[in-house]
Amino acid sequence: MDSIYREIEELKKEKDAVILAHYYVPGEVQACADYIGDSFYLSKIATKLEAGTLVFAGVTFMGESAKILNPKKTVLMPDTTADCPMAHMADVHKIENMREEYEDLAVVCYINSSAALKTYSDVCVTSSNAVEIVKKLPNKNIFFIPDENLGSYVAKQVPEKNVILNDGYCYVHKEVKKEQVEEMKRLHPGVEFLVHPECTKEVLELADHIGSTSGIIDYATKSERKEFMIGTENGVLYELQQKNPDKKFYTVPGGQTCAAMKKVTLEKVRDCLKYNKGEVSVDDSLRSRANVPLNRMLETAK
Ligand code: 13P
Ligand code: SF4
Repeated sequence: MDSIYREIEELKKEKDAVILAHYYVPGEVQACADYIGDSFYLSKIATKLEAGTLVFAGVTFMGESAKILNPKKTVLMPDTTADCPMAHMADVHKIENMREEYEDLAVVCYINSSAALKTYSDVCVTSSNAVEIVKKLPNKNIFFIPDENLGSYVAKQVPEKNVILNDGYCYVHKEVKKEQVEEMKRLHPGVEFLVHPECTKEVLELADHIGSTSGIIDYATKSERKEFMIGTENGVLYELQQKNPDKKFYTVPGGQTCAAMKKVTLEKVRDCLKYNKGEVSVDDSLRSRANVPLNRMLETAK
């Protein structure tokens, strides 16, 4: 195992590369990363890096967003088939119809979306800044794509807006079931439940804290408490345990696993560097149009 980490370190130097990893990729991959974070942090940091090559250990929309925001960089993905199904769950005809129906409509696009969907949108958001950005928009009518659950969470936090929901979802977070959470609460009375806003409304109602992956990790790390129940993809456990070796984390039965994120392995990280494999390319016209909502997000959110 150690030798592959050494090989990756040498390849990074040789190729002027840095590795960015999302909290959902396997822990051993997070361990070789230079930057680990939630989607918002990773898209922000990608715009500030000096290295010529960015290896993105995550899913397609993440590597694609990094390339759109930093067209001069070489962006490599260890597994180019690691795609988030929710990124395709919105219909452009529906967006166009919605624009005809509401004059002042803002199409707000969760970053978990394809570059093509972003081009139909006014602004991108992530789970950590969606509420802040929607609040700041001058528009009363918001069409939130693709995730229904994050959209419904935002609608509740920003009651002054008319948030129209789309029917996309994350199959991983949808698997966190209310009955299982209630059972866990019976097994671990008084233990706080920390949840990602991609979970269903009925699960969010049982939460003590709702946040992005970074939000969940920060909350548990700053808390004086010693035990937590976690309602998100199990990759977060790696950083939670790294930062809090004395604390205990319980997951909801079934164990939430994102198949796409788990396709990213250490061997694939090494090989994409070694053989310059998995380069992300976005054509110029698509890039310049998808860049508008992504940049607006970076300008609007803290
Ligand atoms: P975060 O933005 O919280 O990192 O979440 C990304 C994601 O894919 C959630 O399923
Ligand atoms: Fe997509 Fe869900 Fe996986 Fe996140 S956890 S990348 S939303 S499938």
